[in-house]
Amino acid sequence: MNPSTIYLVSGSNRGLGLGLVTHILANRPAAFVYAGVRSPEKMSALTELSGKYPGRLEVVKLVSADVEGNQAVANIIEARHGRVDTVIANAGIGTTLATVSEVNIASLEDHFHVNVAGTIVLFQAMYGLLKKSAVPRFVPISNAGAGLGGKGITRPLGNVLYGATKAALNWATRKIHFENDWLVTFPVSPGPMDTDMYRNIISTDTIGFFKKWAEANPDIPSVETVSGSLLSIIDESTREKEGGQFVHIDGTRLPW
Ligand SMILES: NC(=O)c1ccc[n+]([C@@H]2O[C@H](COP(=O)([O-])OP(=O)(O)OC[C@H]3O[C@@H](n4cnc5c(N)ncnc54)[C@H](OP(=O)(O)O)[C@@H]3O)[C@@H](O)[C@H]2O)c1
Repeated sequence: MNPSTIYLVSGSNRGLGLGLVTHILANRPAAFVYAGVRSPEKMSALTELSGKYPGRLEVVKLVSADVEGNQAVANIIEARHGRVDTVIANAGIGTTLATVSEVNIASLEDHFHVNVAGTIVLFQAMYGLLKKSAVPRFVPISNAGAGLGGKGITRPLGNVLYGATKAALNWATRKIHFENDWLVTFPVSPGPMDTDMYRNIISTDTIGFFKKWAEANPDIPSVETVSGSLLSIIDESTREKEGGQFVHIDGTRLPW
């Protein structure tokens, strides 16, 4: 059996997912990465990485909450490696800001579908392959704004679409932790970073809360910086240290 770490990163076409794949390939020379993307025809940066790191990257079509498609990816990984070691459930959406009184319910359901159901479907599909790993890890990317006692709810203009679904994601991940004593799993908050999602939320912020916040915090971390810090946490995580905790990128624990 190949002793190197086998990773699967969802949503790796751009943003944090692409940053994580890039960082793994550059800094974990023995690692193999399955890069999940929903539209393989759009993956120009991953094509470049494929050329740069031959034999270490396979791009797979992975659409959030598509049960058959997620199982098909599991079948591909089973055939090539027989196991997966680290699954990073990164694909997610966070669109416009909305108050609870005005939130569009179809949009809320879309966010639940991708951020919550998508992560659970991925876990179900990867369950058997994770069980075959000596050091299995399942790490969903959450958000500090999901915390009920912390930043999310105390911000009067916090994003209900995003916060409520990431809170549900946190709940499911903690439940996975208690149900599977062989697994390292925890939601991790990357903090704000300069991606399309971040820029889109700022540019569509008609109320001005995040625009003001962004102006006051111009040194938003790059995807490269965040990817390196997150991978240090993920790769060194244990069930005892991080398992079932809501972990922030600075290593602290966030309130649920
Ligand atoms: N940016 C921030 O400040 C911030 C802060 C806290 C947490 N996060 C979390 O970090 C993660 C990555 O966010 P990001 O900032 O990198 O976002 P992004 O730039 O918008 O990228 C999102 C990624 O998710 C994929 N995706 C979206 N919907 C999908 C679906 N239905 N099926 C499969 N893939 C889908 C996208 O694929 P396409 O390219 O095909 O659209 C893209 O690759 C998310 O979970 C987000 O909630 C971000």
